[in-house]
Amino acid sequence: MDFRPFEKTMRPIFDNMELIERDNFLSALDSGFREAAAGEGYSFFIIGEAGIGKTSLVKAFLKKIERESIQYIGACDSLFTPRPLGPLYDLAVQMNKTWINEIHSVSSRAELFSRFVQELTQKQKPVVIVFEDIHWADEATLDFVKFLARRISRLKCLFILTLRDDEINQQYSLRNVFSDLAPDTFTRLVLTPLSKQAVQKLADEVGELQMLCGRQQVYLVGGGNSAGQAALYFASHARSVTILCRSAGPERTMSQYLLDQLAARSNIEVLTHSEVVRVEGEGKLEAIVVKNSQTGEEATLESGGLFILIGADAETGWLPPEIARDRRGYVLTGSELAGTDRWELDRDPYLLETSVPGIFACGDVRLGPVKRVAAAVGEGSMAIAFVHQYLREAEERAGAVAG
Ligand SMILES: Cc1cc2nc3c(=O)[nH]c(=O)nc-3n(C[C@H](O)[C@H](O)[C@H](O)COP(=O)(O)OP(=O)(O)OC[C@H]3O[C@@H](n4cnc5c(N)ncnc54)[C@H](O)[C@@H]3O)c2cc1C
Ligand SMILES: Nc1ncnc2c1ncn2[C@@H]1O[C@H](COP(=O)(O)OP(=O)(O)OP(=O)(O)O)[C@@H](O)[C@H]1O
Ligand SMILES: [Mg+2]
Repeated sequence: MDFRPFEKTMRPIFDNMELIERDNFLSALDSGFREAAAGEGYSFFIIGEAGIGKTSLVKAFLKKIERESIQYIGACDSLFTPRPLGPLYDLAVQMNKTWINEIHSVSSRAELFSRFVQELTQKQKPVVIVFEDIHWADEATLDFVKFLARRISRLKCLFILTLRDDEINQQYSLRNVFSDLAPDTFTRLVLTPLSKQAVQKLADEVGELQMLCGRQQVYLVGGGNSAGQAALYFASHARSVTILCRSAGPERTMSQYLLDQLAARSNIEVLTHSEVVRVEGEGKLEAIVVKNSQTGEEATLESGGLFILIGADAETGWLPPEIARDRRGYVLTGSELAGTDRWELDRDPYLLETSVPGIFACGDVRLGPVKRVAAAVGEGSMAIAFVHQYLREAEERAGAVAG
């Protein structure tokens, strides 16, 4: 049997895209999910033409309920070689490795389907199963769809299927699936096209970026990761992107993965030992004057955009003066305070503790060399542990005083 397991990489990467004009559909899915979670499962067939936003709707919904549900996603593909039961294999891979063997070892499909449904009853949280693009489903998959959808109301399970209504491939078989289901166990959500205003809004957003740097020569000042990431982003919109570095190059200040990606893009270049000394233009930027710090030469370069990515300050002006900061606003913690006049207790401050005992800081706002997601997340969990320790000791102290 030929199959290509559904990879985790197909999971949404850009989860944060804001959906327009889909609130009604999201709330319909949400109420179906609430009923499923209460024990009465339900199926939704999300129907619409190619590109109307079926997958985006499902992604947005899955994101919304990701903490409260177990989610399995299978896809049907338009392959030259059919992949019978393809989505079931996708699900098996996500469930656990042994499920794949189970599929191979079970000789009868009816038994396989039953075991699968049985597996769904074992889960701690409500399960959401998504089958994408069932207009391309093989007949065995449609049998499974029918099998599960007919039993869904007895399961803590939401079954979501997407299908194009402008593909004629399986229309006859799909009609047959619908006619076999009890009407109160499923809903056909037929997606409506976005309104003219919504389309205009989306077009304006893209247009803004085009206006900002489309077909222009863009310059970026900076040699760190922010400059590297920005260069890659702008390179898809601008004619060309030039990174201006004061130093001999970004090799020491930028991550290797970014350096590799920059090197692979033909419309990105790096100018080293270069500083912007002047900008020119009538009402808008037209050129920048760049000086080479080694030769002293100045060059006037035509420029449609100049972006400066040379670091950040911490916006902590709102904090009370009791919380000590450095001159750029970064919060002092732990060993930065020990032995200074900003720390008054006999004990040393905990690792993430600020100058006010019991108040902790973590992430980028803290004075410290590591400005990374992993560091911020790790420090967040450490801070919680320190808060507990602080409270425990405060309780013990209060107990000792009372005693
Ligand atoms: C362009 C760029 C690219 C990066 N690339 C990477 C990378 O590839 N890998 C990596 O590991 N790290 C990267 N980083 C660093 C990473 O983003 C940070 O280290 C991480 O986000 C720090 O997390 P944080 O929670 O401390 O701060 P933030 O993610 O900055 O979160 C702070 C939050 O607090 C909010 N806030 C601020 N002031 C207030 C206030 N007064 N009241 C309420 N809310 C407030 C802000 O709006 C923000 O949402 C990058 C940073 C930048 C700028
Ligand atoms: N409600 C929406 N608001 C904003 N953008 C949307 C919306 N719906 C869809 N889009 C945009 O349209 C693109 C196409 O949507 P999507 O891939 O979800 O369509 P689809 O119906 O699943 O298409 P296909 O039939 O080809 O699978 C998305 O990448 C997204 O950028
Ligand atoms: Mg889709």
